[in-house]
Amino acid sequence: MDSKELKQKYLDFFRSKGHAIIKSASLIPENDPSVLFTTAGMHPLVPFLMGTPHPLGKRIADVQKCIRTQDIDEVGDETHTTCFEMLGNWSLGDYFKKEAIEWSWEFLTSKQWLGLDPKRLAVTCFEGDKDAPKDEEAASIWLSQGVPKERIAFLPKKDNWWGPAGETGPCGPDTEMFYWKKNNVPAPKTFDPEDKNWVEIWNDVFMQYNRTKEGKFEQLKQKNVDTGLGVERVTMVLQGLEDIYQIETFKPVMDRIRELSKIRNPDGGQMRSMRIITDHIRGATFILGDDKGIVPSNVDQGYIIRRFIRRAIRHGLLLGIDYEFLTQLAEIIIDLYKDDYEELGRNKHFVLSEIEKEDRKFRETLTKGLREFERLAEGKKNICGEDCFLLFQSYGFPMEITKELCEEKKICADEKGFNEEYEKHKELSRVGAEKKFKGGLGDTSEMSIKLHTATHLLNEALRTVVSKDIAQKGSNITPERLRFDFNFDRKLLPEELKKVEDLVNQKIKEAIPVVREEMSVKEAKAKGAQAEFEEKYGEKVSVYTIDTFSCEICMGPHVKNTSELGHFKIVKEESVAAGVRRIKAVLE
Ligand code: SER
Repeated sequence: MDSKELKQKYLDFFRSKGHAIIKSASLIPENDPSVLFTTAGMHPLVPFLMGTPHPLGKRIADVQKCIRTQDIDEVGDETHTTCFEMLGNWSLGDYFKKEAIEWSWEFLTSKQWLGLDPKRLAVTCFEGDKDAPKDEEAASIWLSQGVPKERIAFLPKKDNWWGPAGETGPCGPDTEMFYWKKNNVPAPKTFDPEDKNWVEIWNDVFMQYNRTKEGKFEQLKQKNVDTGLGVERVTMVLQGLEDIYQIETFKPVMDRIRELSKIRNPDGGQMRSMRIITDHIRGATFILGDDKGIVPSNVDQGYIIRRFIRRAIRHGLLLGIDYEFLTQLAEIIIDLYKDDYEELGRNKHFVLSEIEKEDRKFRETLTKGLREFERLAEGKKNICGEDCFLLFQSYGFPMEITKELCEEKKICADEKGFNEEYEKHKELSRVGAEKKFKGGLGDTSEMSIKLHTATHLLNEALRTVVSKDIAQKGSNITPERLRFDFNFDRKLLPEELKKVEDLVNQKIKEAIPVVREEMSVKEAKAKGAQAEFEEKYGEKVSVYTIDTFSCEICMGPHVKNTSELGHFKIVKEESVAAGVRRIKAVLE
C-alpha cells in the first residue's frame, strides 16, 4: 500500500463513521503569532476545539501538511522528518475516548482497512499528576480491544499530554500507538517505550482542558478528540520497511542524490547527509509552495527555509556535489505531490527560482566561510558564541552548520553564546528601527509618506463622521497600506465607512497645504492638537496642520499638499481587541 492509498482509506474509513472531510490548511498559520508553522492537524481547528461551531458539523477528518522543526537535530536517522503529512480525525464535543480508541484499533488492525499485526502494536496512556488523573479509562478500553496489559505503558505529561505549541489553548491527556518495526526480530512481550524499534504512529488526544495564561487547566466547554497519524511512518510500516526514506515519496529523491553523488554504497554518515538533504528540500519546497509568498530570509518562516536550503547545500558538498542540484530534487517533489496539493504545481516556477537564488547567494560565501571556520577552529577545543555569530553574519552559516562542522572536528560550538549574540543583535536592530521609525513610519518611501498623511486625514474624518471621542490607538504603515487602530465599541456601518472615505477624498481634492510648526506641548494642546501618547514627547514638538481640518503632534514626514495623495480607499474594518477597531486603507 502506498501513501496515496493509505490517505484514501483513512478518509473513507472516517467518512463511514460520519466525518466530514476538509482540505489541508496552509502551512503558515493565520492569526496565530504564537507559532511559525502548522505543526499538527489540530492547529487550524483551534477555534472549533474551543467551542465555535464548525459549519460541517461535529466530526471532521483531513490530511494536513505539517512542519515541525523541534526535531531538526534528529533528522538523518531512519524515522525523523521535519516535513510530513498528518491524518487526523476530530470530535468537536461529540464522541470521546471509547469511539476514538475503538476506531483507531479497527482502522489499524482490521483486514478491511490496514490489517496491521496486533502482535506488533503497543500503547501508552497518561499516568496522572496534580492537573489530571491517571487515564485508567483509556487503558481499560485498550484492554477491551485485546491489547495485553504488558503492552500498555503509563507515562507522564512530557510524553502523554498534548497541547498546541503556544502556551495557552486546548490540551489534554493522550494515548499513543506504537508499531514494532523490526521484521527479523519478534516484538518483545513487554512494551518498552524507550526502545527505538517501537515507532510512534498515531496519537489520540482527549482534549478536555484549556491551559490558561496563568498555567491553570480549566475544563473546556466541550470534550474533544484530536487524533494525528503520521502518513510517512505508517506507509513505512505498511511496506515492511524500517527506513522512512525508502517509501515511495522519498525514494526518488534519495535515488537522485545518490546518482548525483556517484556514491554506490553510502556509509552511515553519507546516508545521514542524503536523508537530511531529502527532508530539508521537501520542507523548503512545501513552505515556498504554500501560496503565501514566503522567501528565504533571516527571520521567521523565511529563516527556516534558508536554514533548510543552506544545510542541504552543505550536505551536498559532503557528498561531493559542488553545484546547484536542489532544484531538480524540488521538481521531483512537486511532481509527486502536485495532485494532492495543487498550490505546489501552481507555484512551481516561484519555488524553483527562489531555491536557485538562495543557492547562488550561499555558494558565494560558502567556500570563504569554510576557510574562516578552519582558521577559527585551528588548535581550539571550542568555538565561542561570537565566532559562531560571525560565521552567521558574514558568511550566512546557520548555527546547525557551524555545529556540524564542529562535530566533525570533535570540538564544541557554543550554541548558547550564539543565541545570546543573536538576541543582542536583534535587540540592537529593533532599537535602531524604533529610532528610525519614531514617527510611526515603517520606512520613508514616497508611498509611506503619502499613507502617513492619509492617516491624519482618516483620523479626523472618523472624528467628524463617527464620534468626537475617537483617538488613535496605534498606527502601522507599509508601502502598500496604512493600518489605523482607534477606540470605538462597535462595527462601523457601511454608510459610515463610505462617508469617512468620501470626506478624506474631499480633503485630498481641496489640495490643502500640510503645514509643520514647532511649539511646546502646552501650546500644541491649546491649539487642540491630537496626540497619541503624551509622555513620549519632549519639550518641543512638531505639529502638522491641514487647514482647520486636522492638527496633530507628529514627527512626520508628510507630503507638502494633500493633492499628492491620489484616491483613498478603505479595504477593511475589523475589531482587534475589546473596544478597539482597526481600519486598513490604501491609496490608489
Ligand atoms: N495533535 C496531536 C499530535 O500532533 C494529535 O493530532 O500528535
